[in-house]
Formats: sequence, structure tokens, C-alpha cells
Amino acid sequence: RTVMVVFGGRSSEHQISCATAAGVLGAIDRSRFDVIPVGITREGAWVLEDDNPEKFRLNPENLPEVVDNGTRILMPDSTANRIVSVVREGVRSDLGSVDVVLPLLHGPFGEDGTVQGMLELVGLPFVGSKVLAASVAMDKHFTKLVLQAAGLRVAPGFTVTDLDWAADAAGVATRVEDSLGLPVFVKPARAGSSVGVTKVKSVADLAAAMDVAFAEDDHVLIEQGIVGREIEIAVLGSPRGERARASVAGEIVMTEAEFYDFAAKYLDDSAVRLDCPADVSDAQLAEAQELAIRAFEALGAEGLARVDFFLDDEGFLVNEVNTMPGFTPISMFPRCWQASGLEYPELITELLEVALS
Ligand code: DAL
Ligand code: MG
Repeated sequence: RTVMVVFGGRSSEHQISCATAAGVLGAIDRSRFDVIPVGITREGAWVLEDDNPEKFRLNPENLPEVVDNGTRILMPDSTANRIVSVVREGVRSDLGSVDVVLPLLHGPFGEDGTVQGMLELVGLPFVGSKVLAASVAMDKHFTKLVLQAAGLRVAPGFTVTDLDWAADAAGVATRVEDSLGLPVFVKPARAGSSVGVTKVKSVADLAAAMDVAFAEDDHVLIEQGIVGREIEIAVLGSPRGERARASVAGEIVMTEAEFYDFAAKYLDDSAVRLDCPADVSDAQLAEAQELAIRAFEALGAEGLARVDFFLDDEGFLVNEVNTMPGFTPISMFPRCWQASGLEYPELITELLEVALS
């Protein structure tokens, strides 16, 4: 079987996607799968990349990038038997017939239905959610509407567009104080890895936080800061007709970080600790697993997702759903499955098998 592994991309999570790809390229079962590594540059060019995990490993000194090497990937058309080709210095050569695509893309232009739509259009099977679920889950505003409609608890908050903000910033500040209280989290609707997210403790800091978030998206969520534990569940889609499966719980424990921001996620080992399995009761675990599967189903997600919760005095609240969660061997999604008895290489095989089923 031939797998086209796609990574990089146009979003602000470009480098995280490269890190995810490094993990997968290093662990995919080569006795079962041939790999065609395809990078998308920040500008959106599809290039043939090196099959070299080391090149893309993330550490604080190396934030990996897909650089334009002059090659161009040509996707198959409907008459081309799924043959993907590359053009190098004006010469076209076939790379092979692709059985399945693994779009390891985080953020807009990759995790949001755009790439999924393109793959549907050319008839290539792929891992993960289809267009609608990917689009909705990428957008924290619409995710909230869907989860609420499904009866799931979400963080109190509201969405502000750039037009709302320009028209009445003082009104937004008043609404924050009256209906949410402080602190609040200000988040771009469509971004990930906490890019553009600020914890705001005083209304005087609201405007600066809104500017940071509006740099990522034209609509921004303001959410009440929840005081509670951060619990995550990894969900794996099943072949058609079977219910999705939920992993054991993981927990993000803040050791030094103020919150789980970009630096705490990727740059500073001592800022947070990932505990997996988390110290929760059997009843709490069963509840979180059920809620995670309900969130997955409410969004119509497929393949995989990580569902992030807060656990406070009132129970679990869904913070967000990631349809292409961070996927290095030390990321929470694979760790939760490892703690549930599924090792990283087998997890990759499982995802590919489900997509091919
Ligand atoms: N958006 C990052 C990659 C995550 O959810 O893990
Ligand atoms: Mg996210």
C-alpha cells in the first residue's frame, strides 16, 4: 500500500505539522506501507519532500519548515488511476498510485476541510474527518453551537467579529465584565496550538488581546476562564457501522505555565506535565469517554480526534475538539492510546486501515 503523507501547510501551525510528520515518518510500518512524503510550503506550494524524520523534528533550537525546493506535486485527475506525479526542472515523473493520504496538517488550510474537499474531489481516500466535520471542528464558534445543540456543556462565552469590535469595543468590555467576569480567554475562532490565545485578567488588557486574536481570524471568542483540571481523551474512529472508541484520559498539569500556551506546548519542557493515564475515578473516566464519543459523533467526525475537557465542580465541560491533534510520539493523542494498549506504530496502521476500509 502506498501512503501519501502530507504536512506543513499554510497555517500558523506549519511547524507543528512538520513535527507531527517527523514522528509519523519515523514510525510508520515500512513493511506494510510505501511512503510518498509531500510538503506544503507556507505559501501553499506542494513539493516532494525528503523521507527524513530527523529533518523535521521539533525542538526549541529547530522549528522545522517545508522549504520550496522547486519540485511540484501533480495530483491525479479522475482518469489517472490515483497516480501522483512530481515535476522537477520541467520533467514529470510518476511517484506511484496512492492508496491513501495521511493529511498531517494542523490549522486552517489543512485541518479545516479545504484539503479534505480537494481529496474528495480527486477521489483519494484519506485519514480523518471529511469536509463538514473538519470545517466545524476547526472553528471554535461553530463547534460550540454544535456541541451545545447536542446537549454538551461548553465554556460560557460569546463571539465577537471584527466589525462588532470596531463598532463598539467598550460595549464588548462591558459585556465581558457583566456576563463572564475575569479572567477570560480570548481566542481566534480558527487557529490551534494556542496561537493567538491570551488570558486576560483585567479589562484594560482586553484590546491588546483582541488585536492578537484578530491577527489570526476575523472572529474571536471570549470565554470565561474555567478553574478546573484539563483532561483530554483520544478518540479513534472505527470502520463503518461501529461506534468510535475512546482512550484512557490524559491530564495537562501546569507546573510553571500560566496556561497551556504555545511555549508550554512545544518549547519549554518544564512548563507543564502530561500525565497519562490521569488520576481520575472509574466513574469519571467512563463519563469523559462517553462525552468524548458524543462530541465526536455530534460533529460527525471520522478517523481520529482529541477531545479536550475542563473538569470543575460541576463536572466535565468540552473545551474543544481537534480533528488532527498533535501526533508526535510524545503528544497526548498517541500517549493516550499507548496507555490504552495501542503502540504508536500500530496506531498509525490502525488509522490507515480504517481509512482504507
Ligand atoms: N492543534 C494542536 C496540534 C493540537 O491540538 O494538538
Ligand atoms: Mg486546538
